[in-house]
Formats: sequence, structure tokens, C-alpha cells
Amino acid sequence: MKDATRLTRIGRPDHASGLVNPPIERGSTILAPSAGELYDAPPGRPHYGRVGLASQQALRSALEEMQGGAFCALTSSGLQANILSILTVCEAGGVLLATDNIYGPVRSFLTNTLPRFGVQTRFVAPDIGAEIGDHMDTDVQAVLLESPGSLTMELQDLPTIARIAQDKGITSIIDDTWSAGLTLKPLKLGIDLAAQALTKYVGGHSDVMLGAVVARTDALADRLRATERAMGFYAAPDDAYLAVRGLRTLELRMQRCADTSLQIADWLATLDCVGAIRHPARSDHPQHAVFKRDFSGSAGLFSFEVPGWRNADSETFLDALEIFGIGYSWGGFESLAIHCDPQLRRSATPARHEGALIRLAIGMEAPEDLIADLERGFAAVAAKG
Ligand SMILES: Cc1ncc(COP(=O)(O)O)c(C=O)c1O
Repeated sequence: MKDATRLTRIGRPDHASGLVNPPIERGSTILAPSAGELYDAPPGRPHYGRVGLASQQALRSALEEMQGGAFCALTSSGLQANILSILTVCEAGGVLLATDNIYGPVRSFLTNTLPRFGVQTRFVAPDIGAEIGDHMDTDVQAVLLESPGSLTMELQDLPTIARIAQDKGITSIIDDTWSAGLTLKPLKLGIDLAAQALTKYVGGHSDVMLGAVVARTDALADRLRATERAMGFYAAPDDAYLAVRGLRTLELRMQRCADTSLQIADWLATLDCVGAIRHPARSDHPQHAVFKRDFSGSAGLFSFEVPGWRNADSETFLDALEIFGIGYSWGGFESLAIHCDPQLRRSATPARHEGALIRLAIGMEAPEDLIADLERGFAAVAAKG
């Protein structure tokens, strides 16, 4: 069954209600039918609200099925999904390898918080492939990837990295938010843990914060489940419901955003003032061959360089936009634009771009209106001289 079909059916209650969506069950206490069962609940019967009720269970099963994974843990944000993945496999005295393009707050966790628990991070090139083996000293416990990186858009060679990591007994983790687990199937490429901010495309309407981690093997599933339980990671029933609902239309929405993003990227490429366009689905992206090999489709999030622009020019450009909002996050129905430079951090590799880097998160609006809006932005910068 294709994802488009599967996503219309997942999470249906199997009882006689006839409803096509899971109920939203709220609860902390779940009364045990007998004292004996208080400490010995039969498999499948939740004993306490924190482990998740109908809508959370529907979402877990849906994501396990979509990814082909053994277990899905839910978290209350995408940032937490990354953190849960790391805490599942890293131990004091170990080292995590992370690509230099990972999401900023995850990077802050790695550099500011994780060392307090005895785990150090070494950053590696964001477009790394087989060379990752050279960094895998005996103290390395895990590799954290983000492909493409959500600002700078470099891709990694996932199957190669997964194979080398497996050979050395190192766990591979990906933040797979860009593809929403739809156009990339990281576990099928051998990656061990796929973390995702469901806040983005799966939620799809900029009204939910949620994350998920799916484990590839039963052994990792046990460790992920145990860590999720021990640390009290939790997702609320209403949010899980919204994510299941978002899955129904995920393919359609992503297709629309991706198509529009490519139209806009093509238009940007005709402008003299615009430099490199960083869109993995374009043939001029440096790792486009990897994209074509590993992904079945695109998303609507990409960046472009404007040589010669300083921060003030980016701000003039953004302030002139009337349809694009200026704001964090992406994957919603509305288009957003940000200037990336103030938040770019690199330690393994220099940030390789000229002038300013602008990121566009393309939503559902008509492409012509978005292009007219961007024209307004460029005109405002030109008018300032
Ligand atoms: C790539 C990536 N991963 C994780 C996150 C964090 O997700 P959340 O905002 O749900 O914590 C973001 C948010 O922008 C992101 O861009």
C-alpha cells in the first residue's frame, strides 16, 4: 500500500463506533479492574495516562508503519525528540559525532548541557559520507545527522554512514524533519533512530508542538521505550490527535509546497542579485545525486544566497514582505521567511556562503503571489541603494 492510501486509514478505531479517527482520551488515572492487575496489567492495557491513550497510540502505530520501525516514542517537541534519541544511546565517557548543520537548539543542548552528563560532541562536515569512518574513534557512541540541514541544506550520504556505523557498533540518529518521514525512509537506509519535529509538516497548521522518535530494531526499541518511560517524555492527547489528522493530508500538502518552492527557486535563479540556491531537489544542489538516490520527493523548505547583502539588507527585504511572515518554524500552510546569518554556528567547517542566506518555508499560497511578494522585498533593498 502506498503512503497516500495508508495515511487515510491509519489510526482508525477498530471498535464498532464507525468513526474514522481515534477518540481523544484524556486521563491520568486508569482504574485497575482488580488489585492483582494494579501491578500486573495485561499487555496492551495502559496502566497510567503518561504512557499514552487512544490518540497517542494511533499516532505511534502510524509512524511505526510509515517508517517501517519497531517502536515510536512521542515527545512534546521536536527538540525533545532529538534529545530523547541522544539520551537513549549515549553514556558518560562517550562521544557523539554531530554534523555541523544540525538545528541550533540541538547544538546548544550538545555543547551546553550534554557535557554535564559526561558526553562530549565532535562536529563533522555537514556533507559527510564515507569519511565519517575517520572520526569514529573507540569512544564514539553515536552519530547525529540532519539531512538536509534545515538552514544550509547540505545532505549526508545516509546509507554509507549507516553501514559504517553499524560495522563499528555505533548508533546512527537522524533528525528527519525536512522529509516528514514521507519522502525519505531513513530506517530503510539503515539509520537506527529517526527523530522528527511533528510540529512542522505533520502538524501542518502551525498550531501544535510535538516530536517523535522511531527505532529500527527491537533492541533499540527496548532502549528507546525504557528511556522514554524513565524520563517521563510525554505527548498530550489533543496534540497527538492533530498529528494523526495532519497525516491524512501530508502527502498532498507537501507536494503542493514542494512544487511551489521549485517554481520560486526557478524564478530566483533568473535574478542577477541572487547567488547560489540551496534546494536539494534542484540539479544545481551539490548533493543532488544523493537526493535523487535517497528521497522520493521534495519539501518546500530551501535557502538562497544574496552576495553583497549585509544583515541590514536582509532586514529591509524581510520587512517589505506582505505575504511571507517573518518567523521560526515551517511546514505550516503559511509561507515564512527568515535571514539565517545571525543564527548560523559552525565549528568543523566554515559557513560557506556569500553575503546573506535567506530561508523560505513555502506554504499553500499561489506561487504568483509569493513571487510578487519577493519582488517587493528585492525592490525595497534596491530602493535603499
Ligand atoms: C530541523 C529541526 N529539528 C527540530 C526542530 C525542533 O522542533 P520543535 O520546534 O518542535 O521543538 C526544528 C524546529 O524548527 C527543526 O527545524
